[in-house]
Amino acid sequence: MDRLEEINVYLGMPEEDGDAKKMESNQGTPICIVGLLLNNFGRDEEGNGKEETDMENSMEIIKKRESIRTYDEASPVDEAARSWLEECMKENGVGPLGNAVRFRLLDLGKVSRDELRQLGTYGVIRGAGLYLLGAVSEGAGGMEDLGFCMERIILEATVLGLGSCWLAGTFRRSSFARQMELSEGELLPAISPIGYAAAKKSVIERMMKKGAGSRWRKPWGELFFAADGKSPLAEAEAGIYRDALGAVRLGPSASNRQPWRIIKDREGRFHLYLQENRFFNRALGKVRIQNIDMGIAMCHFSLVATAKGMPGRWVRETRTEDFPGLTHIAGWQAGNRMAN
Ligand SMILES: Cc1cc2nc3c(=O)[nH]c(=O)nc-3n(C[C@H](O)[C@H](O)[C@H](O)COP(=O)(O)O)c2cc1C
Repeated sequence: MDRLEEINVYLGMPEEDGDAKKMESNQGTPICIVGLLLNNFGRDEEGNGKEETDMENSMEIIKKRESIRTYDEASPVDEAARSWLEECMKENGVGPLGNAVRFRLLDLGKVSRDELRQLGTYGVIRGAGLYLLGAVSEGAGGMEDLGFCMERIILEATVLGLGSCWLAGTFRRSSFARQMELSEGELLPAISPIGYAAAKKSVIERMMKKGAGSRWRKPWGELFFAADGKSPLAEAEAGIYRDALGAVRLGPSASNRQPWRIIKDREGRFHLYLQENRFFNRALGKVRIQNIDMGIAMCHFSLVATAKGMPGRWVRETRTEDFPGLTHIAGWQAGNRMAN
């Protein structure tokens, strides 16, 4: 495939007729996002949580994250930032659905010239010298766990003022996989450049942002539903979880398709469903790009719920309610335990 073909396959076609227009108008209600990032972020010297401050800061971080595709070659990521990210990579070794996830920071400056020639992003990413690579074993929930853990690291990078861009389609997977030294049965679902944004975006970046309508998000009522799975969930009905849902809505998704749907059941529990575009999700074989989106949504929800003082965990459930066109991914189990 040549560069443009690869980019077109990744971007695909808008799902519904109305989507393209909505993308252009780029509208959306202001969203309140909260999240408690890892470790000491937003805490005082004694390590006490300052929840309101955490929430305000985290809202800004989640809002601040956007895909960056053009990097400033003259400003490499320094050692302190790299070792902080390495720490985060270690802390995020297991996802909420129980799969082990493995990360590597790949410094292109340390790669031989021959290998460097193989590592490509079809011209989509410019100027990045550092990449975050994420691997997980094949198996149930692997993509979600990869999405969950990698988004946490990406948000930490955002805290440090670093840019990132989820890539699951437009990169040479086999060449990056060699750098990851995958073991039998392991996959490399996604990578992300990490670095400082360049002052000026490349033409291809401007094209990608416009093509995916990057800043646009579906209205609340198309994403979150009451127990019948059809009626939009009123924001007031979401109660104390309103911001956690808002954080899901603000998340990145492949080609900005936003396949996350959340249903509040009759007992008041939240369930995450995937509205899959089968062609798009299965175009990359075992790497299920929209299941990665689900993990990102789980990450945003749990960070924000925890920051709001409502910890809990995502659990896979055997008995779930079926809704046409939706696949159950996980249910939120509120509880006084450590969030996942
Ligand atoms: C799982 C996943 C895979 C993605 N793959 C690519 C990719 O291959 N190439 C690319 O340029 N952008 C990719 N993106 C970035 C999305 O296009 C972007 O997140 C979306 O348009 C929303 O824009 P934002 O990140 O600026 O909010 C991917 C995003 C996600 C979540």
